[in-house]
Amino acid sequence: MTRVITYGTYDLLHQGHINLLKRAKALGDYLIVGVTNDNFDRDRGKLNVRNNVLERVDAVKATGFADKVIIEDYVGQKIDDIQKYNVDIFAIGSDWEGKFDYLNEFCKVVYLPRTEGISSTMLRDNSQETVKVGILGCGRVARRFPSEASVVSGVDVCAAYDIDAKAASSIIDENGNSIKMFDSLSDFYDAVDAVYVATPHLAHYRCIKESLLAKKHVLCETPMVLDGSEAKELYKLAETQGDVLMEANKTAHCPAFNHLMVMIKSGVIGKVVDVEASLSQLLDKSGREFDSEQAGGAMFEQGSYPLLPILKLLGVNYEKIEFFPRIENGVDVYTKGLIKYPDAVSSFKVGLDVKTEGDLVISGTKGYAYVPSPWWKTDYFELRYEDQNENKKFFYKWDGYGLRYEIQEFMSCIVNKRFSSARLRRRESICMAEIMQQFRECKNYFKI
Ligand code: CTP
Repeated sequence: MTRVITYGTYDLLHQGHINLLKRAKALGDYLIVGVTNDNFDRDRGKLNVRNNVLERVDAVKATGFADKVIIEDYVGQKIDDIQKYNVDIFAIGSDWEGKFDYLNEFCKVVYLPRTEGISSTMLRDNSQETVKVGILGCGRVARRFPSEASVVSGVDVCAAYDIDAKAASSIIDENGNSIKMFDSLSDFYDAVDAVYVATPHLAHYRCIKESLLAKKHVLCETPMVLDGSEAKELYKLAETQGDVLMEANKTAHCPAFNHLMVMIKSGVIGKVVDVEASLSQLLDKSGREFDSEQAGGAMFEQGSYPLLPILKLLGVNYEKIEFFPRIENGVDVYTKGLIKYPDAVSSFKVGLDVKTEGDLVISGTKGYAYVPSPWWKTDYFELRYEDQNENKKFFYKWDGYGLRYEIQEFMSCIVNKRFSSARLRRRESICMAEIMQQFRECKNYFKI
């Protein structure tokens, strides 16, 4: 009996896949089809797969060509599978010509003709209207946005507006003429479906509100606003209008961080009793970050990152919060915070002029999670236990500046008319704004 194996994502199963499976089956008597796992696809940069792995497996089974369907989880699995299933022929489409020659050592490798004129990418692009995005506020962070958006399908970053025309034109210089600079806000709104707000913190509220009132979806840099009632009002307005409003906290969308949150919620370290998160970045003191007039300081600049794992794991119903800031020229250059819950505690440290270890430690009743610096954009974490033999290390993908993951989620919310993302829930974003407000009002505030 000749055993054949082939692999693919098989998203939105199409005629090209069916032809390939038919040809692969015709090479032998028994066909094994490896369908990529969702995580594995994300890890190798396929961010837009529409069908989940179970749907894709069902679609492959429904073709009737597969005798066995397996899941492809990791790099190097093909060699393991070929040996495990005693495979004679590895078959794959000709778009991979030459790429799998290394498998010749284990079995025969056959590249089958690819069906012209169709692919999952094409179907995904055609089935979704392109969302036209405009950048509002063209500073340092915004400059990274166009290249990150270019790897997410269905997004067209086509417009930029900044009160400083020079800032807007610098984005265009770096990204070519596909982005048009506007000098009138109303013309800018006419040109787009969604707005990415990357203005200074204190302008966020006004920019979000204006964009929502212009009936645009909004992705706003973190911290979204520094006032709980403003956050509530904006989310309410977005919901009433049927628009998506999302806070762009890139850590919330980081694949490793996301998986860590899900695993901890499923109890892998028992009950969470303590979350400690730190982050510091020493910056040039002439920058906006040190300007009290522009809501500078470590808490507003960096606080929403450590607050994220704390609020996600321990919730928004804390009993007490205390801040211990070190103030220079009206801004906190370092702040330590303590948050007490009925049966847990958390602490965070943020610094613009004080350097600390930037790690994340989540302590539970059965073990702890350790995420080394820079945990806020990590591709790696460890679960550690009393019995070291049980320790596990987890590795993930983190590409580019990481904004692509939040852009993809923003698009997915728009396309699927989802108004809240589990990665950063509205109540968590509102709670962050309330905490920022308390800090601004110097409540529970003990200068050091
Ligand atoms: N395939 C094919 N003809 C096509 C599309 C895919 O023969 N028109 C083959 C691929 O060469 C591969 C298998 O089908 O052997 C599964 O490919 P997959 O990557 O899932 O499909 P694509 O449509 O190429 O997906 P994408 O656009 O996401 O890359």
